[in-house]
Amino acid sequence: MKLTKSQIQTYEDNGYLVLPDLFTRDEVDVLIHELTATAAITDERVIKEKAGPAIRMVYGLHDRSGPTGSVGYESLVRSARLLQPALDLLGEPANVFHSKVNLKEAINGEFWQWHQDFGNWSSEDAVAAPHMVTSLVLLDQATEVGGCLYFIPGSHKGGLLPPKLDQRTSVKLWTVSKDQMIEAVEKFGEPVAVTGGPGTVVMFHPYLLHGSGQNMSTHERKQFYCVYNAVSNKLGPVAAPRPEYKASRRSSAVQMSNQDVIVGASVLESA
Ligand code: SIN
Ligand code: MN
Repeated sequence: MKLTKSQIQTYEDNGYLVLPDLFTRDEVDVLIHELTATAAITDERVIKEKAGPAIRMVYGLHDRSGPTGSVGYESLVRSARLLQPALDLLGEPANVFHSKVNLKEAINGEFWQWHQDFGNWSSEDAVAAPHMVTSLVLLDQATEVGGCLYFIPGSHKGGLLPPKLDQRTSVKLWTVSKDQMIEAVEKFGEPVAVTGGPGTVVMFHPYLLHGSGQNMSTHERKQFYCVYNAVSNKLGPVAAPRPEYKASRRSSAVQMSNQDVIVGASVLESA
């Protein structure tokens, strides 16, 4: 699926682009099924909430060489529907920098502070440039009460703000200070809620200001994020390189699948 000129313009203007209902309900069901099986394992790629046993993140689902690897997520990151729009924005082959599902348990699932992703990737991994794009796949209905993401449209144009380390949740995050956020909202406008149905894809820029609140609803929230990095965009030397599943240093490009379908392990096994 090639992006149109007007879709590319929307991404450049706002720092994000919504592609509604790109994946079907059946495909999303495959992804949820594989997530449920994977999240049950004990591994550092499965990260819990600070205040209890609920799962907050699962890394590495697309990478079948790792313990959380899954057929369904590998087919997702290699599908033309997800990969081609990223290549259209990056203008060159790309690899997967990392992938993760972020979950928020009903009622208690914790917030994500306002941040820019590149604040994390420059601070932790010395990534050279924001020549990357995140493709988010909604795995259930994203609602405001359920702790959906919020974006500040156009805020990617403000460049990288000084990242500030915040360890209030179970995930160490380089965030944007309160004063910088107030200034950004005065300049770019109020946050918009990123709501939508399962199978919807939202692509966003590494400089876009975003965050999300607590899940106040009675439903779990699940969102898959695949970060594509242009192959020419290298990670620099750092004192303590993060594991490959958080910040891939592989330079080989991800190959697009011949067939644009999401298949689960059970389909492959019975084939
Ligand atoms: C993130 O921005 O990295 C995660 C936000 C969320 O899943 O709500
Ligand atoms: Mn983020």
